[in-house]
Amino acid sequence: MKIVDISHSGSGVARENGKVVFVRGTDIGEDVVVRIVKSTAKFEVGKVAKINVRSPYRTTPPCPYFGECGGCDFQHIEYHRELALKEIMLRNELKKVGYFGEISVEVSKQIYHYRNKLKLTYRSGELGYLGDDDMFVKIKWCMLADNEILRALEDVKTYLQKYSFKYLKNITFRCFQGGVMLVFLFSEREKFSLDNCLEKYPVFLAVGEVLESDKTKIFQSYNESDMKYEILGEVFPVDAKSFLQVNCVVAEKLYSHVLKNVAGEVVVNAYSGQGVLSKLLAKKAKKVIGIEMQTSAHKIAEAIKSENMENIHAKVEDVIAKFSKVANVIVLDPARNGCHTRVLEEIIRSKIAKVVYISCNFSTLARDLKRLEKFYKIVNIKIFDMFPRTANLETCVILEKF
Ligand SMILES: C[S@@+](CC[C@H](N)C(=O)[O-])C[C@H]1O[C@@H](n2cnc3c(N)ncnc32)[C@H](O)[C@@H]1O
Repeated sequence: MKIVDISHSGSGVARENGKVVFVRGTDIGEDVVVRIVKSTAKFEVGKVAKINVRSPYRTTPPCPYFGECGGCDFQHIEYHRELALKEIMLRNELKKVGYFGEISVEVSKQIYHYRNKLKLTYRSGELGYLGDDDMFVKIKWCMLADNEILRALEDVKTYLQKYSFKYLKNITFRCFQGGVMLVFLFSEREKFSLDNCLEKYPVFLAVGEVLESDKTKIFQSYNESDMKYEILGEVFPVDAKSFLQVNCVVAEKLYSHVLKNVAGEVVVNAYSGQGVLSKLLAKKAKKVIGIEMQTSAHKIAEAIKSENMENIHAKVEDVIAKFSKVANVIVLDPARNGCHTRVLEEIIRSKIAKVVYISCNFSTLARDLKRLEKFYKIVNIKIFDMFPRTANLETCVILEKF
């Protein structure tokens, strides 16, 4: 079957007998024989059994886990082709808001070993990823992770040969200036013994469902952390739970772009995390109001704030009505589920002249742009390739009031 398009999750799209067939690890223009592995009333999922017509951009995936672990989507093609496919993926969504204009792309210089964060699932003494249908795939290393993380991973594997856990869900590695931090997340507290394999790392033990949630508590820590995140001349602390962009080099490009486009008097920075962008924006604006619901991130934002920065600890949708009245510019940087309808309604009602929307999920981005389209016009769209080799991308859209 002929691959005619690319899905929002990076699979090749074919059409056969009136049904859509998604085939991972292919390229538009290829002709492939597939083995159907899943069939529903609306679509099928196939695996490549044979390639009849090969893409000229095909290349050998360097990672043995590619296609199994569920992490990467584009190791089978050259990087410039991956970027072209990502642009098609984004354009397929932007058609819904009638946008056919220019899209510029900021590439990532590193396409491997760029991630400062790695989260591995723990199962019966082994570490790995959850691939198709949540199948556990044991891995020895990950080509996306920073090399310092991979060195720490060797120490953690040595540790796990000596100690096993019943309630350990996953281990997160974070790497910035000052080394690597380890966070063990348990579903229930259990006995933990620090060992010389882990002595050089700050180690945190947390209990809960997901690390980033306020419901998850750190119940023990070993070895002081002096880790720092340095960006555009500012230095920030790194903690176990709050969000930081995973690709430092591309993050710097993204924030520089935002700063170039914001010269407002009063800027609302919604979904502001631990205040990195707020602090950078504060150098240019009269006042920056950051809004963030996560407690640990809010506390850091309070600790690092400059005089013209205010941090609101709340859900954006609960307080936006008040702050949209005083802002000239709003920066939105929501999680993958995008903005709450109430946030967009209040922006529409306000006098805010410019909206800067940073998104890590172009499907919810397109949905939210659709809600704004009668009131704000898109003046610039740029892709920041924060997550090379995967189907995820960061997009920054600048909108101005009609
Ligand atoms: C993609 S991160 C952006 C962080 C920040 N702008 C940065 O660049 O470091 C999204 C942030 O939004 C927060 N968040 C998610 N839903 C929220 C909501 N409804 N109200 C306030 N904050 C929210 C998360 O805790 C997270 O810190």
